[in-house]
Amino acid sequence: MPSAQFLCHTHDVKPGEMRRIKLGTHAILLANVEGSFYAVDDLCTHEDAILSNGALKGRCVECPLHGSRFDLSNGLPLEEPATLALRTHTLVIDGNKIFVELAD
Ligand code: FES
Repeated sequence: MPSAQFLCHTHDVKPGEMRRIKLGTHAILLANVEGSFYAVDDLCTHEDAILSNGALKGRCVECPLHGSRFDLSNGLPLEEPATLALRTHTLVIDGNKIFVELAD
């Protein structure tokens, strides 16, 4: 099991917000959807767009470049042009701290 890395505190990302968090060379999009947190790679699978520059719509993030939406719970694209899923990462919440276990 990979070790969990500290991301931020729960109050750093309010409900309805998302933000980009760098872990070394890796960029994570962390979103708060009505108090539930989700973490995915912060890079569209279609082209090199930073998803955290897009829009959070419910449990989906909309790419700022061509508008594909991805379900944050499983990373799946809901419409083209993106066809590949985002990597999703496991979050561990301990008190007010959020840790991430990066997927392979
Ligand atoms: S770069 Fe995201 S849909 Fe094209």
